[in-house]
Amino acid sequence: MSRYLITAALPYANGPVHIGHLAGCYIPADTYSRYLRLKGEDVKFICGSDEHGVPITIKARQLGITPQQVVDKYHQMMKSSFEKLGISFDHYSRTSSPIHHQTASDFFKTLYDKGVFIEETTEQFYDEEAKQFLADRYITGTCPRCNNPNAYGDQCENCGASLNPTDLINPKSKLSGNTPVLRPTKNWFLPMGEIQKTKEFQEYIKRFDNWKPNIKGQCSSWLNEGLHPRAMTRDLDWGVKVPLPNTEGKVLYVWFDAPIGYISATKEFLPNNWKDYWQKQNKEEENPKLIHFIGKDNIVFHAIIFPMMLMQHGGFVLPDNVPANEFLNLEGDKISTSRNWAVWLHEYLEDFPGREDELRYVLTSIAPETKDSEFTWKDFQARVNNELGAIVGNFVNRVVVLSNKYFKGNLTTDREIAASPFENELKKLLQSYTKAMENFQFRDAQSIAMDFARIGNKYLTECEPWKKYKADDVTSVNQTREVLIHCLSLVSKMAVLFQPFLPNASAKMLDMLKVDSEKRKLTKNGFEDNKISLNNIILNIDSLILFQKIEDADIEKQIQKLHDKKVMNTEQNQQAEVVSETTIAPQLAETTFDDFSKMDIRVATILEAERVPKTDKLLKLLLDTGIDKRTVVSGIAAWYDPEKIIGQKVVMLANLAPRKIKGIESKGMILMAQNDKGELSFITPSKPQMDNGNTVK
Ligand code: MF3
Ligand code: ZN
Repeated sequence: MSRYLITAALPYANGPVHIGHLAGCYIPADTYSRYLRLKGEDVKFICGSDEHGVPITIKARQLGITPQQVVDKYHQMMKSSFEKLGISFDHYSRTSSPIHHQTASDFFKTLYDKGVFIEETTEQFYDEEAKQFLADRYITGTCPRCNNPNAYGDQCENCGASLNPTDLINPKSKLSGNTPVLRPTKNWFLPMGEIQKTKEFQEYIKRFDNWKPNIKGQCSSWLNEGLHPRAMTRDLDWGVKVPLPNTEGKVLYVWFDAPIGYISATKEFLPNNWKDYWQKQNKEEENPKLIHFIGKDNIVFHAIIFPMMLMQHGGFVLPDNVPANEFLNLEGDKISTSRNWAVWLHEYLEDFPGREDELRYVLTSIAPETKDSEFTWKDFQARVNNELGAIVGNFVNRVVVLSNKYFKGNLTTDREIAASPFENELKKLLQSYTKAMENFQFRDAQSIAMDFARIGNKYLTECEPWKKYKADDVTSVNQTREVLIHCLSLVSKMAVLFQPFLPNASAKMLDMLKVDSEKRKLTKNGFEDNKISLNNIILNIDSLILFQKIEDADIEKQIQKLHDKKVMNTEQNQQAEVVSETTIAPQLAETTFDDFSKMDIRVATILEAERVPKTDKLLKLLLDTGIDKRTVVSGIAAWYDPEKIIGQKVVMLANLAPRKIKGIESKGMILMAQNDKGELSFITPSKPQMDNGNTVK
C-alpha cells in the first residue's frame, strides 16, 4: 500500500465553478482519487478555496463589498456544489483560515531565516490616481513572448509565460486605465535562476520525463529560457501579512501562499499525522506520493515554483506528477466568466437534479487531456442518451427485467455454474483499464468500463433468452438462469470499474446486487471474488433505470439560456466586459469621424414595453423613431419596469443590422449609460425640445 496526497487546484473564490474548471482538474482528480481508493491505497484528497490575490480584490471593488464578503460567498457556494457533484475531497479548506495564515507565514519565515530570498528595492508600477501599487492582475499589457495584448502582470494566459509586471509592453493600470509610473519598493525575491542550477533541482526535473507531454514541453521551454528571480511579496493589503518588521502594507504573493494551502488544509484535517502525507520518510520507498491536478495555466507554479519552495524549506517530498489538462471550450467559443459564457455547476445541479453522473460522464468523455476540446449541449444529449442510456443503462435494465420476468428476481441455485464466458476478455480489459488510469488517461479508462456493457449487450443478443426460455423445459430454464447470472456478474464488475466515474449509478448497481461494501474493490489479482453476492442475489425491483433520457427541450432551454446571457453583454455593448473588471473603462482604440458618421443615432420614444417571457433581463419595446415604428429588444429589465417607461425619450442606434433575440426581430439598439456597478440609465435629450427622428451628431 502506498500513501498518496492528491490535490486539485484551489479555485479562486471570486466566482462560481463552471464546467471548464471541472473538466480541467476537479473531475480528473476525483476520478483518480476514487481509483486509488478502489485499489485500497491510502489516499488523502485535498482542496480548498484560494481566497487571496488580485482576482478577489478586483471582484470586491466591482461589487462594492469587502474581499472577505466576496470569499465568504463563493467559498460556500463552491464547497456545496462540489459536494453535490460527488467530488470526494477528504478535506476542503480555505486560505483565509487562521491555520493557513500561520502555516504560510511560518513557511515564509523559514525560507527567510535560511537566507533563501534576495531582498531588493526595485521600481514597481504604481497608479497615482488609485494610489496603489499594481501587482499581478491589476496591470495588463502586451506579452513580450507572444504579443498577446491582454497579458497580466504575472502571467500571459495565451502562451503560459510567467511574467513580472515590468516585462509587459505598454502596461496599463486596470484600476484607472492610466499608464502607471514606477516607484521604488522593497520586496523579497525567490532566486529561481540560482535554484535552477542546484543539484537537487536538476535531480528533480528528471521526473518530467514521465509526465504528460504537454507539461513536459512547457516546463522544458521555461527551463531552457532560464529562470529569473521572482518577487514572493506584494504591496497589497489583502493576503497573508509579511512576517517581518516594518512591512506594513505588504503581503505574501498569492502564488506563494496558495499552494501552501494544500499543506495547511492537510494540517487542519490531520493535525497529528499530516506529515505522513507531506514529508520524507525514513525509507525512500515509504515516501508519500504528491500529485497535483491542475489546468494548464497553473503549470509553472506547480511544476517549478512550488517545488522550489518545498525544496528550499526542506523535509518535504516533491511532486510525483502534475497531470495538467488543456482548456475546454463551450459551443464554439472560449469559456469566459466576464462574458458570462459558461455552464455553471450550481445552475446545472439545479436544472438537472439527480443527473450528476451524466455530467461527470460527458466531461470525462471530452476531457481536454492532450489538447483543447469542446462541450456542446447537443453532444451532451447524444452522449447521455446514445452511450450511457443506450449501452450501460439498457444492458443493466435488460438483465433486471429478464431476471424478474423469469425468476421473480431470485436466481439462487445449487447447480454448478459454468465459468464466465468472458473471463479472458475481461482480464485484458481490466489490464488496459488499470494502465489507462495509472497514466491519467481517464477518457480511455471510462470507455473500457463501457466495453463491459457492450460485451453484455452482445451476449444477450446472441443468447436470446427471450426466445429460448420455456417455463416447462428444465434445460431451457437452467440455461437462461446461467446466462443471467453471467450477465449479473458482468454488471457487478462493470459497476466496480465505473465507481471512479459514475459514483451514483455504480452504487445503485452494487446495492441492487447486494455486493458487500468491502467487496467493491480491486485487488492485486483483479476483481474481488464476488461469487457470494451473486449467489445471494435477490432482486426486488421491477426495473432499474439508471439514466433518464435528456429531451430536446432540456437542451434547447440550456442553449437559449447561454445565448440570452451573451445577448445581454453585446446589448450593453462591448465595453461591458471591461467595465465589469475595472472601475472606469479605459479609453478604446482611436476611431475616425468617418466611422462615427456611419452610425445613425436618433431620438425616439418608447410607445410600448413588455417583458420577454422566460427571461429576466429582456424587454420588448415598440419605438417611435420618427421614421417608423419598430421593435427593439433591450436588456434593461433589471433596471426598468416596463409599465414605467412608456413615453420615455431615448437615444438609439437605428441602423444596427437587425438581429433575432429570443425569436423576436430587434431592429436597432437603445444607447444606455452604464456605471461601474453595471447599472444602466437612459440617455435622454434635455432642452430644447427634441422630436422623434432628430439625429445625434
Ligand atoms: N487559484 C488558482 C487558479 O484558479 C489556482 C491556485 S492553485 C494553488 O488559477 F496551488 F495555488 F493552490
Ligand atoms: Zn504570451
